[in-house]
Amino acid sequence: MIKVGLIGYGKAGAAVARVIEADERFELCWIARRSAGPAETGHPVTSLDANSFPAWLDQHPVDAVIDFSDAKAVLIYGEAIRRRGIALVSAISVHPETTLAYIRDLGSDIRVMSSPNITLGINFLMFAARMLRRIAPFADVEILEQHFRDKPEVSGTARKIAENLDVDHERITSLRLGGIVGHHEVIFGFPFQTVRLIHDSIRREAFGTGAAFALHELLKYPPGFYTYDDLLLNLIRQDLNASLVPAHA
Ligand SMILES: NC(=O)c1ccc[n+]([C@@H]2O[C@H](COP(=O)([O-])OP(=O)(O)OC[C@H]3O[C@@H](n4cnc5c(N)ncnc54)[C@H](OP(=O)(O)O)[C@@H]3O)[C@@H](O)[C@H]2O)c1
Repeated sequence: MIKVGLIGYGKAGAAVARVIEADERFELCWIARRSAGPAETGHPVTSLDANSFPAWLDQHPVDAVIDFSDAKAVLIYGEAIRRRGIALVSAISVHPETTLAYIRDLGSDIRVMSSPNITLGINFLMFAARMLRRIAPFADVEILEQHFRDKPEVSGTARKIAENLDVDHERITSLRLGGIVGHHEVIFGFPFQTVRLIHDSIRREAFGTGAAFALHELLKYPPGFYTYDDLLLNLIRQDLNASLVPAHA
């Protein structure tokens, strides 16, 4: 069993904890947060503090940490996990450039995966959309995103999809309706057919499924800095290689 420490126990972290707890590949050992408030999981909780965290790690050893806290937290725990060879899955959505450089540097000693979008389904949608764009560059592309009424900005995921497909941000249509958690749709308009790739978020637990996938894959690799794409594409590549029919010369 892979021993895991979870950093951050807010809206996302609490959902991730439920998924990791229920997954028999992992043992959730502890939670670190800014406060030392209790967690409904009943696991030991510590307040993340640079002075006491190394001793906490020695008393509660883990193979990996999953970070759903805040961009500043890695600066507190980074050296402690580097020295102990502990792997890191960081799900923080936005990092200052210097912090991202620091996380990349951790990859020179330990296994690190950092992804601003950790949902497995969205990462697969982006991969599939990229493939279709390459196969059919002549097709029209539109991106539709739907979220709850109060979400003010255009979805960052939709903007990332647009960048990945090299289409203008103006091709994104945003709808704000009731309590929709998150809907992303990429529509490819061919002359005689239409392809729609759709992802619907149902619950925040999807972040946990994505983090579990990333951690399980990450531990197959040597120390280094990896993106979600690296892990997903390597898996797809291995599967394709196994089923490849050699082309005639
Ligand atoms: N990659 C993805 O797909 C994805 C998906 C969802 C969320 N996220 C990211 O995950 C992070 C958390 O999101 P959220 O919605 O769960 O936020 P949230 O509800 O505000 O929770 C933040 C959690 O982090 C803890 N925390 C904050 N600063 C800390 C620090 N310096 N040291 C240790 N713990 C600290 C907080 O501690 P207290 O409980 O003590 O306040 C809280 O438990 C954000 O960066 C968000 O962008 C990423």
